[in-house]
Amino acid sequence: MSRVYVTRLLPPKAVERLSDVDAVFFQEDRPIDRSSLLEGVKDAEGLICILTDTIDEDVMDAASGLRVISCCAAGVDKIDVDAATRRGILVTNTPDALTETTADLAWTLLLDAARRVSEGDRYIRQGRFVGWGPLLLNGVDVYGKTLGIVGAGRIGGAVARRATAFHMNILYHNRNRNRILEEDTGAVYVSFEELLERSDFVSLHTPLTPGTKNMFGENEFSMMKRSAVFINTARGGCHDEVALVEALRNGVIRAAGLDVFHEEPKVHPGLLELENVVLCPHLGSASEETRRRMALDAVVNLLDALNDRRPRYVVNPEVLRG
Ligand code: GLV
Repeated sequence: MSRVYVTRLLPPKAVERLSDVDAVFFQEDRPIDRSSLLEGVKDAEGLICILTDTIDEDVMDAASGLRVISCCAAGVDKIDVDAATRRGILVTNTPDALTETTADLAWTLLLDAARRVSEGDRYIRQGRFVGWGPLLLNGVDVYGKTLGIVGAGRIGGAVARRATAFHMNILYHNRNRNRILEEDTGAVYVSFEELLERSDFVSLHTPLTPGTKNMFGENEFSMMKRSAVFINTARGGCHDEVALVEALRNGVIRAAGLDVFHEEPKVHPGLLELENVVLCPHLGSASEETRRRMALDAVVNLLDALNDRRPRYVVNPEVLRG
């Protein structure tokens, strides 16, 4: 029986599917610490991990028989995929399961930041609501405005599709043109610079790679409209957190909605002081249905790899060719 290590407890349906392998789980309801991870992976042929686990060469060295790393997430930026590929270890992820749920969350943040809902909630709880006022907590309209999507893959596309219901003009920037998205939504492909200059809302949906690290910094925020709202549900590393705090503090942009941070669970103290940012603890995929689907996809990917079938979601297909 193949030995499998799982770094976090999974929903019962996914656990049941592991009955044909010798699965050992990290039992605590917290992110696994380094020494438990290094100990746990010893002798494992398969590893199921979550997006916060750093799976580097040390982990791979500790697990000399490892054949598959099945990440229960879309983003695999904490996994050294090149090192895995060099060792012939397959890396898989769960991108389809969370597309619509994450797009919903991006829209939640967008609407909240635009219409100051969380700020209003705090206002009421602080006992400051003394009556309706024409100038009370005025936000900005979303309907009919311009949405800029940076990274028009699965989630960026799903965010754009929702925007058609708000009769928005949709701009997008991506490595490649997305003709289907253009046909479906009327989205217009523009340069990154043009997108920054023209958008009322900018929503970021790129993976974190060396090329996208800090792609939003002081320069990019200063190119955006002063009335613009910035949304990031991708990875905190894609924006410069200090530059964002400064931009929000100094009115360089109007507001932001963030589901992701540089060094989660730490949040830059400057963000905590600001009213014009909505903060969310990385809940993009956090619906019961989606978390169940992600766990099942992660298990099926793992079992396929261990049984020499091609898993549906492979990050490094070179391994299969080699
Ligand atoms: C969530 O951030 C994921 O990558 O699945």
